[in-house]
Amino acid sequence: MTSSGLRVRDLTVVYRTDDGDVHAVDRASFDVGPGERLGIVGESGSGKTTTALALIQMLRPPGRVTGGTATIGDVDLLRLAPAEMRRHRLQTASYVPQGAMNSLNPVLTIGRQFRNALADHGVRLPEDELRARVHAALESVELDPRVAGLYPHELSGGMKQRVCIAIGMLLGPRLIIADEPTSALDVVTQRQVMETLGRQQQVTGAALILIGHDMGLMAQFVDRLAVMYAGRIVEIGTIREVLETPRHPYSRALVASVPRLAQRGELHGIAGVTPSLRRLPEGCAFHPRCVDAIDRCRRERPALDRAPGEHRAACLLAADAARESVA
Ligand SMILES: Nc1ncnc2c1ncn2[C@@H]1O[C@H](COP(=O)(O)OP(=O)(O)OP(=O)(O)O)[C@@H](O)[C@H]1O
Ligand SMILES: [Mg+2]
Repeated sequence: MTSSGLRVRDLTVVYRTDDGDVHAVDRASFDVGPGERLGIVGESGSGKTTTALALIQMLRPPGRVTGGTATIGDVDLLRLAPAEMRRHRLQTASYVPQGAMNSLNPVLTIGRQFRNALADHGVRLPEDELRARVHAALESVELDPRVAGLYPHELSGGMKQRVCIAIGMLLGPRLIIADEPTSALDVVTQRQVMETLGRQQQVTGAALILIGHDMGLMAQFVDRLAVMYAGRIVEIGTIREVLETPRHPYSRALVASVPRLAQRGELHGIAGVTPSLRRLPEGCAFHPRCVDAIDRCRRERPALDRAPGEHRAACLLAADAARESVA
């Protein structure tokens, strides 16, 4: 099969709770081509991790995908039976979870955890080849092969994070999703881990989704950026388009909150409170915090304008501005 990226259309995830349904992801659509890097940013609770978990069928109840497709080639990840998904995980689509380094099993050596991952995917090799495979995986993330004999607590945070990336890349997946891979690390280690991830992606030509908060990191690392707000993608475009000419007021506030993009910066607070996903405002979910909101914004829910692949925004005012500049 020719290499193909990920194509997500109208992905919708609901957490069903006693207090009512929470639309944690609402009709999200995006593409990530082979070798391409898509960033997803948005404040805490905006649905970034939920999007990732849905794509690899790792949502826990009460979370459930209620609509959409997520295809790689002719495989729809959302429609695979659990046993099929287990086979495709790591092989087709791999997820390095938020706080991955804490997800390593504390009582198994690093080498054993690689071997288990291979065994889970039916890779049976003679002992010497198995050892060579684990060593090569460690070397691919600039770790000494001796790390195979160590336990997680004997490694630094950066080393553990590299181990998780190496496990994620072990079977050469066509999609890798890294959820805040460097958030617990110091700046120097962050850079090293990101370089490792980027290099590995170049070798394999995988599509990559990077989830995070750090706009400076996104500016340095991704090709395209999606901005999520209250479960919806409100803007998506090339990283330059979004940083230099943000079209959604929320993205503008995010970009303005980074002091100097040449430096790394965390997202700072934006005036107003994050809406409860249980009781989203009518119309545009951002309108109570939007300085430009007009009456229509309270009633009409904006959809992403323009065609997929273009610089899109879900804002009535941005759409009007674009029409006026053409007229
Ligand atoms: N188990 C659950 N039950 C009910 N609601 C949930 C559950 N898990 C998540 N949610 C809801 O889904 C929303 C999105 O959560 P998610 O973890 O995807 O956010 P996130 O963007 O990854 O945030 P963060 O930046 O903090 O990692 C949350 O606001 C929360 O309301
Ligand atoms: Mg998250």
